[in-house]
Amino acid sequence: MARSLATELSVAGVGNTPQILLNSFKIKNSNIFAKLEWYNPFGSVKDRPAVWMITEAEKQGLLKRGKSVIMEPTSGNTGIALAGMAKMLGYRFEVVIPQKVSEETKVILRKFSSKILETEDDLCPRVGPGTDQSIALASAIVKGHPGEYFMPNQYENDANFMAHYYSTGPEIWNDSKGRVTHFVTGVGTGGTVTGVGKFLKERNPNIKIHGVEPQKGHHIQGLRNLKESNPPALLSRRLEVIDHWMEITDKEAFETVKAIADKEGLFVGPSSGAVLAAAIKVAEEHPSENIAAIFADDARKYKSVYKEFRIFTDEEFDRLVKTAKHLPNIPFLL
Ligand SMILES: Cc1ncc(COP(=O)(O)O)c(C=O)c1O
Repeated sequence: MARSLATELSVAGVGNTPQILLNSFKIKNSNIFAKLEWYNPFGSVKDRPAVWMITEAEKQGLLKRGKSVIMEPTSGNTGIALAGMAKMLGYRFEVVIPQKVSEETKVILRKFSSKILETEDDLCPRVGPGTDQSIALASAIVKGHPGEYFMPNQYENDANFMAHYYSTGPEIWNDSKGRVTHFVTGVGTGGTVTGVGKFLKERNPNIKIHGVEPQKGHHIQGLRNLKESNPPALLSRRLEVIDHWMEITDKEAFETVKAIADKEGLFVGPSSGAVLAAAIKVAEEHPSENIAAIFADDARKYKSVYKEFRIFTDEEFDRLVKTAKHLPNIPFLL
């Protein structure tokens, strides 16, 4: 008998990622806790919405195993998660990505995907008529093949929000034993910030939610600057959840990636550098608080990016991959 989707996904081990105290970043008596989302089976926070979007689509009869093709425009992690799960569950997967996505991400996607289409978009595809290419291209292909393709569309699909409302939010609340006072995360689709933010505020309305956006023309894969790109529909629906927006420069993000490797032995992706840079500012402004931060993925997909921006040489990078703490083997990917 076929296993239920829930069983398959719990076997895959999505969620329940570790949340650790960053001992070297205790600032003005505030604690910063990092939730290490690269412990998810396909290596990022995006495994959560991928599971929820597929589950919901199957429930609604929009996906049929062995028949349907999943198609998604993505700047990387959602593509990797959907591609991996599609393979597990018996779907073909096609992806549209911006050319600027890191080479390592493309290698992983090629391993899992039946087809990859590249567009000249910014790193995070702009949302809105006439501005994005990857979303438009994916939508056009899906529209042209009714009944064959399904596009989860993380930018609009409420299952993306629900994944965080029902899993990431409760985990952060429980792990902190209800003592979390601030939540800091990067914003791409807005699924994480709205899902976790709404859950935490329902538990304690005094918790402050900080949304992190990168500078204009940034190089932080997964994040979006809302001054150069319209907010995704998913984010616009619950914009009020965010108390405070923080803009972090590429320089701040990359310097913090280096600092956390030196001080804490953690080897993080660029968006985690941006999030920690923001969390440090929150700690400086709010002494004696408990700050939970999302570390969306680890460094292993960004060797070429860190080389280009002179953060780590190839030798330093290879040494950190061997010596960094909390870097699990990801059997599906490596
Ligand atoms: C590395 C990384 N950080 C942060 C985010 C932002 O998450 P969300 O889309 O939930 O706003 C993403 C999303 O793709 C990501 O890939």
